[in-house]
Amino acid sequence: MNGEKFSGLAVAAAVMLLVALPLLYSATGNGLFHKPPKPELVLPVGGDGKCVEPTDFMRSNHMKLLVHARDRIVRGGELLPKYHIEGCKNCHVKRAEFCDRCHGYAGVRPDCFECHNLP
Ligand code: HEC
Ligand code: HEC
Ligand code: HEC
Repeated sequence: MNGEKFSGLAVAAAVMLLVALPLLYSATGNGLFHKPPKPELVLPVGGDGKCVEPTDFMRSNHMKLLVHARDRIVRGGELLPKYHIEGCKNCHVKRAEFCDRCHGYAGVRPDCFECHNLP
């Protein structure tokens, strides 16, 4: 009698597990338990290994830097050669392996490249 009760419970538990598995599986796939992998950025080789500003600053502020540079150059008439947007390609030679990869990960699509040539 006890045995029957036990196997009844075991069957119920097994059924519940079977129902839960796909949910658990898709939750994992959707990144509930794992963060999506960081984009693999191809960094410049050679040179002195430095960006136009410190790396941490660039990581979080390159967008503002570029937009401010545009205003200062185009409207303010300053030269600022090291902040020219097309100057980035002197070191970051493939946009697809650097800028685009990170923008794709972050879900942003700057429209700058329609006019500024960064291959
Ligand atoms: C519709 C075309 C167009 C788009 C889109 C555009 N620009 Fe420009 N940009 C220009 C033109 C034209 C100039 C002035 C000519 C020059 O110096 O290249 C300029 C100049 C600049 C300059 C100063 C000069 C240089 O070569 O760096 C910067 C910096 C700049 N843009 C950044 C940006 C950024 C950042 C974006 C995206 C948020 C952007 N631009 C989007 C057309 C565009
Ligand atoms: C003189 C070469 C050079 C130029 C020009 C250059 N970079 Fe860099 N950049 C580097 C190097 C080298 C690194 C990696 C530095 C490190 O590993 O600490 C880097 C790192 C970065 C990073 C951080 C990447 C990360 O690890 O998260 C960003 C963002 C960036 N650059 C954007 C730009 C932009 C935008 C421009 C154009 C205004 C630009 N860079 C121009 C050499 C350059
Ligand atoms: C480490 C990640 C990373 C790398 C590498 C990176 N970006 Fe960005 N970029 C971002 C993020 C995140 C944003 C959006 C920030 C926001 O919306 O506040 C952004 C926004 C921008 C914007 C602003 C667009 C707008 O409309 O305001 C420009 C311009 C830009 N990136 C240019 C570049 C260029 C050029 C490169 C390559 C030389 C580059 N980025 C590489 C993460 C990155």
